[in-house]
Amino acid sequence: MSAIQFTNLSFSYQAGTPFAVEALRNVSVTIPNGSWTAVIGHTGSGKSTLMQLLDGLLSPTTGSIRNGQRQLQAGANRKEMAAFRQQTGFVFQFPENQLFAETVLEDVMFGPQNLGRTDKEARTDAIAALEMVHFPREDYKRSPFDLSGGQMRRVAIAGVLAMRPQTLILDEPTAGLDPSGQDELMRLIKTLHDQHRTILMVTHQMELVGAYADHVLVMNHGQMTMFGTPQQLFAQPQLLSDNHLKMPASVALGQQLRAKGLPLPETLPLTIEQLASEVAETLRRKQG
Ligand SMILES: Nc1ncnc2c1ncn2[C@@H]1O[C@H](COP(=O)(O)OP(=O)(O)OP(=O)(O)O)[C@@H](O)[C@H]1O
Ligand SMILES: [Mg+2]
Repeated sequence: MSAIQFTNLSFSYQAGTPFAVEALRNVSVTIPNGSWTAVIGHTGSGKSTLMQLLDGLLSPTTGSIRNGQRQLQAGANRKEMAAFRQQTGFVFQFPENQLFAETVLEDVMFGPQNLGRTDKEARTDAIAALEMVHFPREDYKRSPFDLSGGQMRRVAIAGVLAMRPQTLILDEPTAGLDPSGQDELMRLIKTLHDQHRTILMVTHQMELVGAYADHVLVMNHGQMTMFGTPQQLFAQPQLLSDNHLKMPASVALGQQLRAKGLPLPETLPLTIEQLASEVAETLRRKQG
């Protein structure tokens, strides 16, 4: 297993026509295997396009992508794109819109069946995936359209997991969920990451970047402007404002407290819990 490597990757929609739109320009970066990378940037910066290329849904206009043992080059044909695709699972924005089968189990079996696995194998994969997302067994025969929004999203994610992808791409996975639904989904993604999958997550929520990601990839007008850690990103206010990004509330509050004279540690508090324990510790030291 090795990393994901984008090399001089460019992509234009309707390339070679008068309607061409350049969506990505010369992106080169290596994403470590097993990492959790947040893909962030202003609307229209190229995040979804980059993820669709990694999923083999689009092929590069120029440059190439390597994922593990496979490579996708400019001009790849359908067959090469399909082979490249097998390594990734893509949870689209509002994935529940793609549910279609009569029962939950049939819906989740569709992906592995489509990869050529037998019905028996597909069933085993589907059940394993539904268990991963904690979907209750007694509801396997229900219509996916009778479920709550949160349950539908879990079924849709199980449909992707049933294909056993090594790399999991999620485009705005928490969009439209209430705070408890968001927490639950992030815990699920964390479990999947702990099982050594590489995660790429497009998000506009800097709190999630701080709390979960170990790497960040910042896009701006089709170019990559930064690849690093959340600590490195949130320590650069100018870079944040240039990219229309905010700090997580905990980082901003920590800075205000430091400005008021509270000697907090140099490392940024990436979550409210971390900030709270640093404040408590600092006050204890001050008193002691
Ligand atoms: N199917 C398409 N045809 C033509 N242009 C497109 C198409 N999809 C996206 N674009 C353009 O490509 C550029 C990158 O779009 P992309 O959807 O990758 O951005 P994004 O970062 O995912 O934005 P958002 O945060 O709004 O989801 C934008 O200029 C967009 O208008
Ligand atoms: Mg997008």
